[in-house]
Amino acid sequence: MSQNYDSQRLNQLEIKTPRLLLRRINDADFEAQLEQERDPRIMRFIREVPSLAHAQERVRGFIAPWSGKDMDWLCFTIAAVDLDGFAVGAVLGAMVFRLTEQRLDIGEFGYRVNVACQGKGIGYEASQALVDAVFRETPLHKIVAKCVASNVPSWRIMEKVGMQREGVLRDEADADGKREDLLVYGLLRREWEQTR
Ligand SMILES: CC(C)(COP(=O)(O)OP(=O)(O)OC[C@H]1O[C@@H](n2cnc3c(N)ncnc32)[C@H](O)[C@@H]1OP(=O)(O)O)[C@@H](O)C(=O)NCCC(=O)NCCS
Repeated sequence: MSQNYDSQRLNQLEIKTPRLLLRRINDADFEAQLEQERDPRIMRFIREVPSLAHAQERVRGFIAPWSGKDMDWLCFTIAAVDLDGFAVGAVLGAMVFRLTEQRLDIGEFGYRVNVACQGKGIGYEASQALVDAVFRETPLHKIVAKCVASNVPSWRIMEKVGMQREGVLRDEADADGKREDLLVYGLLRREWEQTR
């Protein structure tokens, strides 16, 4: 087990894919990220749409430097690089990563993609890139992700990046005010190494 997470380096991490750039959320992204944070179509499987003041506070938290402490999110903007119909640099969504238990080298990730560009493989491309980067750049042993059972695109992404469904937390999620099961997915470093 390791404690070696270089927060300074991870704060500067940029991840390139054929169509996208994942880079730390910055002040210039504030309005675009705020809009996503307040979009009920994006938030329906994540949490209640927050008040404006709460959403602003959350986005400021996304921009703040990552502390490296357990449960603190390291937040990236998904920006367009080469995507039909979108300007270079356009904000397409967000990817987040956190250590849930550094002592055990366990982390978690999450994602959202603007409604205007969903269904184009962006969520998958960004997720695969993030998973690859954290296993490459850190001593992480396992990455997990959770989603509401009816959020099919979300658990499809988890399966496409090689994660296994490890459990179903019955009735532990809220989707549009309706109780639902929460699916738990996980990927071990050795499984990731076999596939890359
Ligand atoms: C979940 C989310 C990030 C997916 O992003 P995306 O860029 O649209 O996803 P992709 O285009 O990469 O598609 C991923 C998979 O889901 C499938 N998919 C996409 N939209 C779908 C839909 N409406 N219904 C069923 N499957 C769908 C795709 O076909 C693909 O699977 P496949 O390769 O087996 O065909 C996006 O829908 C989103 O931001 N939702 C709101 C926020 C959210 O729920 N985040 C996750 C919280 S756990």
